[in-house]
Amino acid sequence: MIQLEHVTKTFKTKDGIVHAVKDVSLNIKKGQIYGIIGFSGAGKSTLVRCMNLLERPDDGKVIFDGENLMEASPSELRKARAKMGMIFQHFNLLPAMTIYDNIALPLRLEKAPKEEIDRKVMELLTLIDLVERKDSYPSQLSGGQKQRVAIARALVNDPKVLLCDEATSALDPQTTQNILKLIAKINRERGITVVVITHEMFVVKEICDEVAVMDSGRVVEQGDIVPVFTNPVQEMTRNFIATASNENKVNELIKMNHPITQLKENQQLVRLRYDSTNTEDAMISRISRLYSIDCSIISGSVEIWKESPVGQLVTVFTGEEEQIRLAIDELKRNNIKVEVIKRGHIE
Ligand SMILES: Nc1ncnc2c1ncn2[C@@H]1O[C@H](COP(=O)(O)OP(=O)(O)OP(=O)(O)O)[C@@H](O)[C@H]1O
Ligand SMILES: [Mg+2]
Repeated sequence: MIQLEHVTKTFKTKDGIVHAVKDVSLNIKKGQIYGIIGFSGAGKSTLVRCMNLLERPDDGKVIFDGENLMEASPSELRKARAKMGMIFQHFNLLPAMTIYDNIALPLRLEKAPKEEIDRKVMELLTLIDLVERKDSYPSQLSGGQKQRVAIARALVNDPKVLLCDEATSALDPQTTQNILKLIAKINRERGITVVVITHEMFVVKEICDEVAVMDSGRVVEQGDIVPVFTNPVQEMTRNFIATASNENKVNELIKMNHPITQLKENQQLVRLRYDSTNTEDAMISRISRLYSIDCSIISGSVEIWKESPVGQLVTVFTGEEEQIRLAIDELKRNNIKVEVIKRGHIE
């Protein structure tokens, strides 16, 4: 649906040239929810603005629904943009207009017939569950309600794509969940392809099919969310995951030299990650028996990522070094991801 090929974007500022997006290629397929994550300043917003040419790339191709927008005429570009709805962190509603008029605006600008406008706006007000508030003004709504209005406005032209730039970053966790559910419903029921930009990893885990990780203008890793998050290849992805989740806890405990992370020489602190196809309980008692090692669990969690469970255990393995090595090999053969976080000192 959207293909970027070697897209590059630089800004000239008084302090010099900023390379916001460097040689990015990616393929967002029809019907997907595609996440783009990375720390602040990584280039996420610039990249998404390149998708609808709000920023014109210096170089590369932006192919939307088979058409290279870099070669489109102004009128072709206008048409293509109308097929890409966009929502933002701060909603960007017009404060002097009612909710109804905010949603109707794109159709009025196109001089659509009044009955069509009314039919469309009422249908969308029903979708976002704000029919009774149609004559209110944005300042009278909560953040979550404002974002729902912004979503309705973005859908009024029946777009093929919805671009969401930090759409939930200004909302509390409960409201974030509601907005994510609405976005997922729109994707499912209307077949609209969604691009979600966020620095919050749980947003990606909640709704995305695929993810691209950005660092300093480049996409450093991309693919289905479970392999990317359970087996990150890049240092940057590992940092991001560690910062964005509470996995850092163990590292903090190690730094503090907390008793539970003080290891004897025959011990190793190990993190295991597994998906729904592994039953870690049975595996752990099996390797413990097979290799005569003792496994004590320090922490564990199961999260639901895009409807499939992903588990994580931090355990201390106690036993002979060779036996622990064999046990780890066995776990890996069973598709459990294993990371040795710390080894006991051998004096
Ligand atoms: N219009 C602009 N003029 C000059 N520099 C810009 C402009 N827009 C973005 N930049 C620079 O490009 C880089 C990438 O910015 P961008 O806003 O795309 O990052 P981001 O990943 O969206 O960050 P955040 O998570 O904070 O929103 C930054 O160094 C930023 O300062
Ligand atoms: Mg941004």
